[in-house]
Amino acid sequence: MTVLKRQKTNSLKTEILFRLVIPLIFFVVVDTVLSYFVTVHYVDRAYDRWLLDSARSLGQEIKVRQHKVLVELPPEALEIIKWDEQDKTYFKIISNGGEVLAGDPQVPEPLAPDIDWSRPIYVNATLYGEPVRIVSMRITFIDTPGQVFIHVAETLNKRRAMMTDILLADLIPQVVFVILTAIYLLSGLKRGLQPLHTLAKHIAGRSSRDLSPIPENHVFLEVRTLTDTINDILEQLTLAIATQQRFIANAAHQLRTPLAGLKLQAERALREQDITAMQPALIQVQNSADRMSHLTAQLLVLARSEPIRGGHELATVDLCGLAKKTCMDWVPKALQHNMDISFDSQEESMLVQGDEVLLRELLANLLDNALMYGQGQGGVTVSLERTPQICLTVCDNGPGIPDAEITKVLERFYRIPGSPGNGCGLGLAIVKEIAELHNAKLKLSGTQGTQVQVLFAGDP
Ligand SMILES: Nc1ncnc2c1ncn2[C@@H]1O[C@H](COP(=O)(O)OP(=O)(O)OP(=O)(O)O)[C@@H](O)[C@H]1O
Ligand SMILES: [Mg+2]
Repeated sequence: MTVLKRQKTNSLKTEILFRLVIPLIFFVVVDTVLSYFVTVHYVDRAYDRWLLDSARSLGQEIKVRQHKVLVELPPEALEIIKWDEQDKTYFKIISNGGEVLAGDPQVPEPLAPDIDWSRPIYVNATLYGEPVRIVSMRITFIDTPGQVFIHVAETLNKRRAMMTDILLADLIPQVVFVILTAIYLLSGLKRGLQPLHTLAKHIAGRSSRDLSPIPENHVFLEVRTLTDTINDILEQLTLAIATQQRFIANAAHQLRTPLAGLKLQAERALREQDITAMQPALIQVQNSADRMSHLTAQLLVLARSEPIRGGHELATVDLCGLAKKTCMDWVPKALQHNMDISFDSQEESMLVQGDEVLLRELLANLLDNALMYGQGQGGVTVSLERTPQICLTVCDNGPGIPDAEITKVLERFYRIPGSPGNGCGLGLAIVKEIAELHNAKLKLSGTQGTQVQVLFAGDP
């Protein structure tokens, strides 16, 4: 018994779900990354403006008196700049020569050498271990030479809080959307696949003897191909089982007759006292035994060639060599029938894909028929030619087979009434079965003697 190893199977539901949800998650991630950069840009723009306002209001407190720059910061002005619940603000006002005129000297300045001071400069830096955003601007005076630089730094708490709010407002609906989509898909798939479970349950609930087709109402369109194939197999199986049962019944019947004869003849022989009187009954016993052994051998060949058994390993066989050897084996039997066997082949070797033992049985049955029914009229010819298919032909000069009997003689256990010999009617059925197994075509013609052709398909 073949033990089938159960392979790990993926669930269709998980597969579909992954294929739909993973792109959605990917989309959400890409969208979040893009949103992050867009949000950073706009939040910076909004808060940078406020920061610049602070720097400008500081600038308004810088006065020029007698060509001297004075920074007078009233406490209210400082309060306005520094007043903030969330963030700390630092500033620094320095002269052209680098002298700190007011504020915190630690406030960093933009370092690039070629700074364009016509516009405010914004940079990110760290101050007292905290990240800060700094705006730097230059102030020039109309009637006094020289210039003053103002740097205002602010921690990033407000910006971060706003960024988080905006990103969450963007992300949360999308995550909810993905979760709802996954739940919806899952329930949809569950409902969609339900007929498949019903079908599986239906099949599992059937008895192993029930080979009736799967009813169409258990099936939906996407699974129709599968059920159609199963129904086809069930139909073939039903047919094969019926054929086999018919064959077993026939075989039993055929075996019973010689067995009954055997028993009868044995009883008859036992009743006789004299050994000479026993002779006829013993000859009958021998005949019945011969017939039974022939029938058994034919039945075994037929069972071997049954396609339902499967597992026929076809190998490359030289049909020419095989036919020549079989013909030679049959020469003594031909001599008993006062006949001769001739073998003729176009080529030295002709290769086919086949089962050597069965091919020999095929030819043996054709030779047996030719010798048995050729009735000593001339010879039997076995020939091999390429037409271009490889063609094996067996001809005899006997009475032939009437047209009306041509299909019947291929049936199992059929013999033309009045046929000579102890045949059981299985020879040509075996030939047909073996030919089918080799994908070969069988042609029978019985008008001028009997001609049987086996046409092998394709190259090996
Ligand atoms: N070469 C032939 N010439 C004339 N009749 C034939 C020839 N071959 C077969 N037949 C007829 O076809 C019938 C079926 O042949 P088949 O070989 O199937 O069975 P069988 O020869 O009777 O028995 P088995 O071959 O099983 O011993 C035969 O009984 C015979 O009447
Ligand atoms: Mg025969």
